[in-house]
This record gives sequence, C-alpha cells and structure tokens, in this order.
Amino acid sequence: MKIILLGPPGAGKGTQAKLISDKYSIPHISTGDIFRKNISEKTPLGVKAKSYIDKGQLVPDELTIDIVNDRLKNDDCKKGFLLDGFPRTVKQAEALDDFLNNNGSKIDTALLIDVPEKFILDRMTGRRVCTACGASYHIRFNPPKVESKCDACGGELIQRKDDTEETVKERLTVYSNQTQPLVEYYKNNDSLSIVDGTREINDVFKNISNILGSDK
Ligand code: AP5
Ligand code: MG
Ligand code: ZN
Repeated sequence: MKIILLGPPGAGKGTQAKLISDKYSIPHISTGDIFRKNISEKTPLGVKAKSYIDKGQLVPDELTIDIVNDRLKNDDCKKGFLLDGFPRTVKQAEALDDFLNNNGSKIDTALLIDVPEKFILDRMTGRRVCTACGASYHIRFNPPKVESKCDACGGELIQRKDDTEETVKERLTVYSNQTQPLVEYYKNNDSLSIVDGTREINDVFKNISNILGSDK
C-alpha cells in the first residue's frame, strides 16, 4: 500500500495520515515534520529549511528529494508507506516515480483531500500541534481533552510559526502554483482519488477507508 496525500495547507493531511497509518500499519512520512524536527535540533538541514518555511515557500527540490529517498530505503517501508506533503512539485513527483520504478514498484493511490480556500484560514489559525509527536488539534474543531496537552502522548501543544495569516496566504499561493499541477499528473496516471475534506474528521476518514479498502 503506497499512498500519497495531496491537498492544500490545512486540508487535514496530517490529521488523516495519523488515522490511516494506525489502521493500515504503514509508516507516516511527513516532510514538514522531518523539517520541523531538524529545525528544532538546529541541524544544517534545519537551518537551511527554516529560511524557506518561515516565509511559506517550498524548500528546494534538491534538499527534499534525497531526504525522502533515504527514508523510503528503510525496512519499515517495504510493505507500504504514506507520504504526507511530498511530492509537492512535478520534479518531486517524477523523482519519486523514478525511485519506485527502479525498485519495481509504483504509487497505488494519490488521495486528494479537497478543501476550498475559504475554510483554510480558520483551520490554520486555530490549529495547535504536539511538539513531541506532531499530532494536530484545533481549538474549536478538534480540541484536546486537556487544554494544551496532546491526547496521544501528553506532549505540549503549540502554534506553528508558519500558521500566521500572512504566511498561510503565501502557502496557498505556492500550493496553487507549484503543487496543484500534481492533481493532473496523478489523474493522468490513473491513481487519483478525491475525498471531500470539508466533512467532519471521522466522515473524511470513513470515505478514505472506503477508497483504500479494508485490507490490512
Ligand atoms: P507541511 O507541514 O506539509 O504543511 P502544509 O502542507 O502546509 O500542510 P499543513 O500541515 O499545514 O496542513 P495539513 O493538511 O496537514 O492539515 P492538518 O491535518 O494539520 O509543510 C510545511 C512547510 O514545510 C511548507 O510550507 C514547506 O516550506 C516545507 N515543505 C514540506 N514538505 C515539502 C516538500 N515536499 N517540498 C518542499 N517544501 C516542503 O489540519 C489543519 C487544521 O484543521 C488542524 O487544526 C486540524 O485539527 C483541523 N482539521 C483537520 N481536518 C478537519 C476537518 N475535517 N474539519 C475541521 N477541522 C479539521
Ligand atoms: Mg501537516
Ligand atoms: Zn503528541
């Protein structure tokens, strides 16, 4: 089961990824989470990535593609994986296809979580994320049981630095210019499925489960 999650910032990729990864026992690979971990550890990659992420721009393909290829070589990806936030450019999509092709495999499903722009700003400005495990919450739509504490791991919940109104607007522009073309790319490959991401979190997950099937 090799799955890609597509969708604008705030579509619910991270939220659904946690549910999918638990249900189907496949690793959840989020390039955003990998960059944020490197930023908090002040690694050379983190220092480079931070300058782009803080502005809402994409980290260059040259940095991003190698990180994902390395991660996909891990044993836990042998029976499948779930990519969240990668690919984000046609160049990244082609690199991923090449990598999988060389290993005799391909993407099974590119799942687009479709959410119109008018929903996004509310979702982003109310979002809180766990500093320990990366889980997403929302102060109104998906509040944690205990304020500022992660239900899953007890970690501290904070606001992401790139969740300001100004940066979110830039991220939406970047999405429509650089990532939206991937919808056509995966449609042409016959691997695109679309779910309505404006429904409640559990309803979105039910629709995704129907698309992916019940096999473990
Ligand atoms: P990344 O971390 O991937 O951010 P993003 O794509 O902008 O997406 P988000 O994580 O903001 O949203 P999400 O879809 O995961 O939504 P969530 O589930 O949290 O990337 C960050 C940055 O890193 C990029 O800008 C770029 O600089 C860099 N980067 C990353 N990957 C890269 C790549 N491949 N190439 C180059 N650069 C890269 O949900 C959002 C909120 O809505 C939450 O509060 C949640 O609780 C709530 N919510 C979720 N579902 C629902 C629902 N159904 N109803 C109501 N509320 C909901
Ligand atoms: Mg996310
Ligand atoms: Zn947590």
